Amino acid sequence: MKTKPLTILGALGAILLVINVVSCSTVTRTVNLPPEIPGATFMGSQSCAECHAEKNKHFAGSDHARLKAQGANAENVGCESCHGPASVHIKSGGAARTIINPRQSPETCYQCHLDKRGSFNTAHHHPLQEGKVSCGDCHNPHEGRAVKGGGTSMAAANETCFKCHTAQRGPFVFEHEALREGCTSCHSPHGSVNQRMLTERNQILCLKCHMQTQVAPGKIIIGGHEHTDDLPRGTCWSAGCHEAVHGSQINRSLRF
Ligand code: HEC
Ligand code: HEC
Ligand code: HEC
Ligand code: HEC
Ligand code: HEC
Ligand code: HEC
Ligand code: HEC
Repeated sequence: MKTKPLTILGALGAILLVINVVSCSTVTRTVNLPPEIPGATFMGSQSCAECHAEKNKHFAGSDHARLKAQGANAENVGCESCHGPASVHIKSGGAARTIINPRQSPETCYQCHLDKRGSFNTAHHHPLQEGKVSCGDCHNPHEGRAVKGGGTSMAAANETCFKCHTAQRGPFVFEHEALREGCTSCHSPHGSVNQRMLTERNQILCLKCHMQTQVAPGKIIIGGHEHTDDLPRGTCWSAGCHEAVHGSQINRSLRF
């Protein structure tokens, strides 16, 4: 059968039934049913192994495989919770357009992660709806931790970002140690109401780590330097201040 991906995704809108999915960490949340593919039924994750052995191999240890669905009609989610029911795909020997590939659309992820649709619709977001970035660029669906580099080291988590943002990798003569705590200490990776997807729009961003002290009335010290006249001039990373916020080649105070 030939079903255009868009038709398949259109069918998602018609899904009404709601089931409870419980993660192994006993988080309870309400989610919609897995995606629908007209005419297809669920076959179970084992049925994929015959042709996609390498995907099945490490799946058991992945974040999503550890999810258990409740209720008789929610058995065998696994692979098909993201890819949709596979009977037509399997019968056709893997013909094109018989299965959902989330690389082409985030809809299948939004079913369970409803809040992410909102994040990617904020004023400043990664261009996902625009088709330039996909959830899979930053997340592992098939093995290990779903957040790439998550649970290991921050350096590994930042690698995910460096794949596309090479300028922030450095090396810098004067590095900003904040980057060791991860890009996400200052950026919301999905999207934000603030410019540059920043977690805060003003100096609060920096004051989270750099103490502001008032030594005398109206006299403000940050990082050992007097900032009394600087603060009203704009953000900490405005022109003339710490504009080389990711690291500098020439100035310890992170300036260009
Ligand atoms: C009889 C063999 C066979 C079985 C069984 C099978 N597939 Fe496939 N599948 C293929 C072939 C062939 C392709 C196309 C070539 C490729 O991408 O490997 C494919 C492609 C895919 C794609 C990419 C589609 C695209 O448009 O990019 C996905 C996703 C997929 N399969 C998922 C599954 C899942 C999930 C299962 C089990 C529920 C499954 N397949 C079972 C043969 C099979
Ligand atoms: C959490 C959702 C999710 C689950 C569960 C899942 N996949 Fe995928 N799958 C994806 C995403 C996302 C992609 C696209 C990867 C990318 O963007 O690079 C994909 C791509 C694929 C492809 C296309 C080839 C490729 O590498 O891009 C195949 C085949 C596939 N998955 C098979 C499986 C099988 C078999 C299972 C179960 C063992 C499974 N998937 C479980 C989300 C999932
Ligand atoms: C059938 C429902 C379902 C689908 C479909 C689904 N997820 Fe999940 N996902 C969950 C649940 C449940 C959790 C764990 C509980 C939680 O989020 O607190 C989870 C966790 C995650 C996590 C966080 C893991 C961590 O370290 O906390 C990421 C990242 C993630 N999913 C991404 C995706 C992406 C990307 C897709 C689409 C390719 C997807 N999910 C599809 C249900 C789903
Ligand atoms: C540009 C990279 C990037 C893209 C694209 C991306 N994510 Fe994430 N996501 C992250 C990072 C990094 C984290 C870890 C956040 C943290 O540690 O504070 C994360 C965390 C998560 C989590 C767990 C924590 C939370 O915020 O709920 C879920 C669920 C998730 N992402 C789902 C998705 C889905 C679904 C998509 C696609 C619609 C997506 N992500 C696209 C980078 C990305
Ligand atoms: C697959 C490639 C890709 C990955 C991976 C990626 N990004 Fe991006 N990022 C983009 C694209 C494309 C844009 C939009 C650039 C534009 O519009 O000029 C962007 C924009 C941004 C922006 C806003 C830039 C601006 O000019 O407003 C920030 C901040 C950002 N990304 C941070 C991150 C972080 C943090 C990570 C890791 C969690 C990450 N990105 C991972 C591709 C990626
Ligand atoms: C200490 C906070 C902080 C950390 C940590 C941080 N950023 Fe930024 N980032 C900023 C600020 C502030 C801006 C806005 C700069 C501007 O508008 O001039 C920015 C801007 C950006 C931009 C837009 C282009 C540019 O350089 O102005 C990208 C892309 C970006 N950051 C990626 C990253 C990546 C990738 C990481 C992790 C390696 C990271 N950031 C870590 C604060 C931070
Ligand atoms: C996640 C924590 C964190 C955040 C957020 C953060 N910094 Fe830092 N920053 C550090 C650490 C750690 C150092 C190195 C130790 C020190 O000098 O305090 C540092 C050093 C600096 C230095 C060099 C100080 C010197 O004289 O050597 C400047 C300048 C600086 N940060 C500016 C900023 C600005 C501007 C922001 C906001 C955009 C910011 N920082 C946000 C953690 C952070």
